[in-house]
Amino acid sequence: MRVDSLVLVRDATVDDLAAIADVHAAAWQVAYRDLFEPDFLAGLLSRTRGKWTRVFADPAFAEQSLLVAERGTRIAAFAHLVPTASDREREISAFYAHPSAWGSGVANALIDGVWDALNGIADRASFWTLSGFNRARRFYLRCGFAETGRTREIDYGDGRPVLELEYARSAP
Ligand SMILES: CC(C)(COP(=O)(O)OP(=O)(O)OC[C@H]1O[C@@H](n2cnc3c(N)ncnc32)[C@H](O)[C@@H]1OP(=O)(O)O)[C@@H](O)C(=O)NCCC(=O)NCCS
Repeated sequence: MRVDSLVLVRDATVDDLAAIADVHAAAWQVAYRDLFEPDFLAGLLSRTRGKWTRVFADPAFAEQSLLVAERGTRIAAFAHLVPTASDREREISAFYAHPSAWGSGVANALIDGVWDALNGIADRASFWTLSGFNRARRFYLRCGFAETGRTREIDYGDGRPVLELEYARSAP
């Protein structure tokens, strides 16, 4: 657990899942608005709504972590960490802040919380991000992550694949 500038980073509980879904949807609405048609994005958001309840209930969750960054009584950001093929590496499979908290330092507190959570478990973290997410890419570069050179194309279902880039870094 870490408290940083009035931000508390802690493991999520079942009571946080609705707030996590809200943060996820709000971040997508802003970050994805130039990538997808509005109707397609609306459908994507509604299909994703129950994702975190399913993740939390899945037996595989025992090997994963879901962290929230709480400011006051509000969940401002969350991160999901999952195992990879490498024993000592975890993938940050989701890392989202509510747009109202962008630029506030909440994401910095959350990335520190990610390293705290990985302490003794993994010495490397990786993630994939869309090549068009310049804000996210700049944030991760500032946090010491670097492109690994691996890329992939993902089709979210609209038949227009988007390019994703992998970033990684060793534990600080
Ligand atoms: C990624 C995310 C958590 C970062 O949190 P944040 O509060 O926005 O991060 P910060 O404001 O601390 O840092 C963003 C950096 O991008 C810069 N930036 C802001 N707008 C930008 C833009 N349009 N293009 C490029 N850089 C931009 C900021 O100046 C800052 O860089 P600096 O610290 O060198 O000045 C948040 O933006 C987010 O949730 N984005 C949507 C979801 C996402 O992309 N998640 C990652 C995929 S898993």
